[in-house]
Amino acid sequence: MIFTKNNISSDLERAWQNDKDHVIHPYANYERFHEDGSVVYTKGDRHFIYDDKDRKYLDGIAGLWCVNIGHGNVEMAAHIGEQAKNLAYFNTFEDATSPSAANLAAKLASLCPGSLNHVFFGTGGSMANDSAIKIVHYYFNMLGMPKKKKILSRNLGYHGSTYLAHALTGISSTHIGFDLPKDMITYLSAPYPYRRPDEMTIQEFCDSLIEEMEHKILELGPETIACFIAEPIMGAGGVIVPPDGYLIKAYELCKKYNILVIADEVVTAFGRLGHLVASKEKFDVQPDIIVLAKGLSSGYIPLGATVISETIHKVISRPKPENPYFSHGFTYSGHALACATGLKNIEIMEREDFCGHVRTVGPYFKKQLKTLEDLPVVGEVRGSHFMLALEYVKDKRTKESFPAEINIGKRIYHSAKKRGLIIRPIGPINVLSPPLTYDKDAIDETVDIMKKSILETMNDLSKEGHL
Ligand SMILES: Cc1ncc(COP(=O)(O)O)c(C=O)c1O
Repeated sequence: MIFTKNNISSDLERAWQNDKDHVIHPYANYERFHEDGSVVYTKGDRHFIYDDKDRKYLDGIAGLWCVNIGHGNVEMAAHIGEQAKNLAYFNTFEDATSPSAANLAAKLASLCPGSLNHVFFGTGGSMANDSAIKIVHYYFNMLGMPKKKKILSRNLGYHGSTYLAHALTGISSTHIGFDLPKDMITYLSAPYPYRRPDEMTIQEFCDSLIEEMEHKILELGPETIACFIAEPIMGAGGVIVPPDGYLIKAYELCKKYNILVIADEVVTAFGRLGHLVASKEKFDVQPDIIVLAKGLSSGYIPLGATVISETIHKVISRPKPENPYFSHGFTYSGHALACATGLKNIEIMEREDFCGHVRTVGPYFKKQLKTLEDLPVVGEVRGSHFMLALEYVKDKRTKESFPAEINIGKRIYHSAKKRGLIIRPIGPINVLSPPLTYDKDAIDETVDIMKKSILETMNDLSKEGHL
């Protein structure tokens, strides 16, 4: 369809209506959706996004933590077009492959630490986490340890929305109404320093988390526990940075009790923290499996990957007497166009040194955002590099939260949107996770809009008698 002046608004209005009538949105808010419908976004350019009225916004969330190289990259668009002309798709079941699937797997093996050399492809993070758990269970079955099935996850961890990935997710409010397969999952406490018990130092809090973990392992019986799954920094749970040393100690416990570790790097990889893969380079830990998605293809085409160690691969790739197949796979595993997108994405990120840019500019971003802690409702600004959040409180001294129905994060989101900035509201928290093209100008404008939006919201709350 070619948009002309005469048809553009009616076509976009039709799209708005069609959406309202027919699309089931992920995490739709049915309090408002039937009335308000959706905002139709029509185009993007680096860290800017435009709506159907041609209003321009700073995309402070990279789509959804994923458009890492920025919107509208013409080199990527041309490459996708060329690859689609050559070969968009052929399956990779059993004995078929494509150059892009093969070469992306080799590239990921070179980027992931240690012996993580084998890659199972899917279309997103949830599927990659599901695959990781299936592989872990299969691995222990093959080793003759069928009792090793239980999974340690954490409150506030986010791992996706398929049946199992949702169950791995420790955000309990999202479980309501769904019968998720939670029997094999134990949720440990979130490593949430801001919300630690008042009397504890951060170090004591860290020690208490590790003690809790070891206690749980012994209570469940290590012989029944297959794996521990963790994001190095929790994302959707509220950008929760664990205390220093927490990850290293948790990984040590897993090693001690023969529990495999799955690092869910769906958000933290591909530059957001200044590294293509963060586990080893930033956190000095060596997982058995790394789960990748989002920034892997910068969201240009859906793509996810489960990268496993040589040790696990050796076992799962042994033919079984009853069935020589590894009977797990999806139509779109190793999708040629998606893998070509992933390869091009990494090529662009490396050539243009996006990680170097994030390492340079990230501390400035956090420092500027931290100035907002001077405002009475900003309890904490936290995070690292291009993964940041603000948590709002009614009383800074006691850290008392606002009542949920005040929806403070959503109010500030609306106020910022009006001023041309899109942020993500998660309860009393706003997340900032922009494209890695964000520069100092974008950061300064973001901080300025955040300040005005928080002040406006405080003013409204005060008029309503909430402050
Ligand atoms: C850490 C993490 N893991 C997994 C997922 C699920 O990925 P997807 O939505 O692509 O299935 C997400 C999505 O936000 C995520 O943040």
